[in-house]
Amino acid sequence: MIMSAVDFHGYDASAGYTYGFCPEMAPDWLDLSAMLAGAAPARRDGEAPFRYLELGCGQGMGLCLLAAANPQGQFVGVDFLPDHVAHARAVAQAAGLTNIQFSDGDFVALAQQWPVDFGRFDYVSLHGVYSWITPPVRTALVRCLGQATASGGLVYIGYNAQPGWLGSMPFRHISRLLKEESNQPSEAVMQASIGLFDRLAAGGANSFRILPGLKSRLAAVKRQASNHLIHEYLHAGWHPLWHSEVAKEVAGEGLTFVGTASLAETLLPGALPPPLRATVEEQVSSVLRIDVQDLVINQSFRRDVFRPSSLWPTLAGDVVPEGKKIYLLKPVEGDSLTIATSFSEIILQAPAYAEIVSALDAGGRSIGELLALPAMRKQGRSNALQIMALLLHARIVGVGRSAPAPIRAVQGLNRFIAEEASRGRRYDHLAAASLGSAVVATADDLRLLDAWLAAKGRIDAKSLAATCADKPMGDQGAPADGQTAITPDRAAAFLNQTLPRWRKLGAVAQGQA
Ligand SMILES: C[S@@+](CC[C@H](N)C(=O)[O-])C[C@H]1O[C@@H](n2cnc3c(N)ncnc32)[C@H](O)[C@@H]1O
Repeated sequence: MIMSAVDFHGYDASAGYTYGFCPEMAPDWLDLSAMLAGAAPARRDGEAPFRYLELGCGQGMGLCLLAAANPQGQFVGVDFLPDHVAHARAVAQAAGLTNIQFSDGDFVALAQQWPVDFGRFDYVSLHGVYSWITPPVRTALVRCLGQATASGGLVYIGYNAQPGWLGSMPFRHISRLLKEESNQPSEAVMQASIGLFDRLAAGGANSFRILPGLKSRLAAVKRQASNHLIHEYLHAGWHPLWHSEVAKEVAGEGLTFVGTASLAETLLPGALPPPLRATVEEQVSSVLRIDVQDLVINQSFRRDVFRPSSLWPTLAGDVVPEGKKIYLLKPVEGDSLTIATSFSEIILQAPAYAEIVSALDAGGRSIGELLALPAMRKQGRSNALQIMALLLHARIVGVGRSAPAPIRAVQGLNRFIAEEASRGRRYDHLAAASLGSAVVATADDLRLLDAWLAAKGRIDAKSLAATCADKPMGDQGAPADGQTAITPDRAAAFLNQTLPRWRKLGAVAQGQA
């Protein structure tokens, strides 16, 4: 099915978006989020085939990572920016992925006539889309959700939430107005807006005193890539929303709220100081409780999971998270962990997590096995699950498949990612067959992987470092973002620590290169 996008509905199409990946969108993570909320997963058998749709898939990188790591799934990505879809298709083709297709569709046209060949999906996700588009496009998008979601399926919506953006609204307003009034290219508009707000801050403008969030947002904006800023601030429809607004809109298509995929927030409201917890709990409805809770924590980004309300409302008692498998993503040192969440910094002392980490060091274990560890039994099931939720949120562990996927598709994609990243493309994840998801990879690690693969794995640390030094780093031979000179020690750390970890996660095959 081919659709051409001619009208961008106020969406700024002047710059391509970033290549990010969000583990909360992986099917296993979504299933776990539902189960932790006491609801049934989309699949009772975690290895069963499934269909997955991403609406507004951007550059398609996240969906390609998921498709490579889940060959039992069929993936469809939709986006109306031709450059995004072209990039997504090029990645899928270069990686040899056969279980994914991309469509250059517009939500408005799709809502009018849902393509017969799309059918329904077990998972429908949208990240960074819902609060970026105008109300009529949102209405169309909600209609698409109704058409697309299978009964028992899960819908993930990641969106900018209030009240965390209230302090930024003046920056958004003036940036958008500058664009409309000045007729300058979007990148110049963003720079002009930053310059203007710098002058306002230096001059002591009252708004900065009244809105402390404005100052911190301006500092954050200066650290962000210009294509991210254009997509974040310049679209006509960009508008952070309250949970209640989203929940009421999607209810029009029969979707009800299941829970959050921001797993640290499953500790709420219990983790709030008692008076605030009581204030949240005494509210008369779920949407009021969540909006008041978001007021307490100054929420700025929500990852809500919904599902069609007619079926599977709650867990029948026979589907529990115990069967889900957890994997260690990175080494843990020291005797405490400081975990930043949307509501506070939580310090976990080693006795709370050390046993989990050392059990996982040997390979993936099911949640049931981890709950049976002596220290976890002492914590009690509810506390132990909260510890796991925090470790998942901190990307220290990942939730993954019960049986690793065949690694062939992952190898093709990861080879492509390493090659492109070493030319300066800002890819930052590798597909991981054990996880059914992806792992973070730094620019330097991807460059090392590329050189190691080119040498078919027969290379020592010194030669690996020398090979990286010989290769031009960015597009013009200049270091790309995040790349540094590779020393033999750095290359040795890659060979001795990073590669074995990636092998365990199925990002690199045993015995590959
Ligand atoms: C901020 S980007 C997020 C992209 C991606 N989900 C991610 O997180 O990397 C929003 C995406 O929604 C797409 N989009 C916006 N309006 C759309 C519409 N009416 N139909 C289809 N795609 C749309 C844009 O092209 C863009 O790729």
